[in-house]
Amino acid sequence: MTDQTMPASMAGLTDVDPYPFYESVRARGPLAWDDSMRGFLVTSYELCRDIEMHEELYRHPYADASPELIEIKSVKGGHRNITISQGEDHTKIHKWLLGLFVPRTVEQYREKHIRPIITRLIDRFVDKGRIELTSVYSDQIPPRVLMSLFAMPWDDDVLARKVLDLHETVMTWIGSQNRGSELTDKARAAGREINAILMPYMLERKKNPGDDLISRLWTDGPKILDNFTDEDALANAREMFLAGTDTTVHAMANALHILITQPEVMQAVHTDRKKALSNLVEEALRLYGSVQYRFRVANQDCEIGGQPVKKNQVLILINSAANRDPAKFACPAAVDLCRTMPKEHLAFNAGPRNCVGAALARTEMIDAVDMLLDRVKNLRLDPAAPPPAFRFHYTRSFRPLHVLFDAA
Ligand code: HEM
Repeated sequence: MTDQTMPASMAGLTDVDPYPFYESVRARGPLAWDDSMRGFLVTSYELCRDIEMHEELYRHPYADASPELIEIKSVKGGHRNITISQGEDHTKIHKWLLGLFVPRTVEQYREKHIRPIITRLIDRFVDKGRIELTSVYSDQIPPRVLMSLFAMPWDDDVLARKVLDLHETVMTWIGSQNRGSELTDKARAAGREINAILMPYMLERKKNPGDDLISRLWTDGPKILDNFTDEDALANAREMFLAGTDTTVHAMANALHILITQPEVMQAVHTDRKKALSNLVEEALRLYGSVQYRFRVANQDCEIGGQPVKKNQVLILINSAANRDPAKFACPAAVDLCRTMPKEHLAFNAGPRNCVGAALARTEMIDAVDMLLDRVKNLRLDPAAPPPAFRFHYTRSFRPLHVLFDAA
């Protein structure tokens, strides 16, 4: 991209490769004001990490959540959801939900909730030889995994698509800093619709708990939070559903894109599948994120990277730019499956609000690539079809992925 086509501000990056812009921001110094985002852009790995680690200095924006945000992201009265809660409540909920997704537990989910879904999806297209991989594969896995963990009918195609579309609407609104009446109206309607979809399952599991995650919310919740309410249960189910769907859809597409566009990566995967896959997933997360940036707010007047920041000014932590910071990563824009600390990126944030679902996301991504390669060979981009582009703004992935292959 030339400077002429590079947008002047961050809001203009929708559907545009954002990395030339991020590099121009990095060249301006550690902090760069952006009118369109109404805040300082941060691209340094060290600063992003430091700010994420220190919530007492830089609060999460939902500390100031409006009733509208609470209603759209969870439910009226549902402020004790993991991202909206603060202080001790947040620490307790974070620890609780993290416990549902530790690697040992995710290993158990793998056979019951991840692999059967992937098998079913591949069965549908393995004989076709030509497909668009995001719509029939990577878009389909994460929403269904959450549905399966919630003991919802994950094989209902219409419902699975609806779940993804509704969550994408809410995510787009979050990335826009909750701006614009049209986006807000759409996000409000989507929030209501997700609640209407979830509610019958929530009520049924309250009466008849099983071993699914909705039941765990009802059985564990009262041990974690005083006076645990229906709103608390729904609010935290909503957050898991949202946080585990759109994010992983994009991350998975990015890993598949690297695999099919970089022959040396495909070769490495053929040589030592287990090691290469795990590193491929980390490099996809580092290089392309999927959640490009997160917000924080300064609690007091301070100095960041030598620049004054006033109390209540917004910091936009561009983790996907921090993950290409040359001060942290050698050859930052290249896929390197031999990095010594492959998990040191900020795709899942650092600090007290880091991602509780990281182990689940990593496992889904690894299995999606691994199981596909078990079933197809000569997987490659279709040269006659439209090429992939790095689409959207806040959560992003390469699409479409039109591929050709033979059944293995
Ligand atoms: C590749 C996929 C994923 C990415 C890139 C991702 C990224 C993130 C990031 C950047 C945050 C921090 C937000 C902030 O505080 O500003 C976060 C938080 C969170 N993530 Fe993920 N996530 C992914 C998958 C998942 C999955 C599969 C789940 C679970 C089902 C999940 C559940 C959560 C929850 C509940 C939080 C809130 C943590 C808190 O506020 O304490 N995420 N994620």
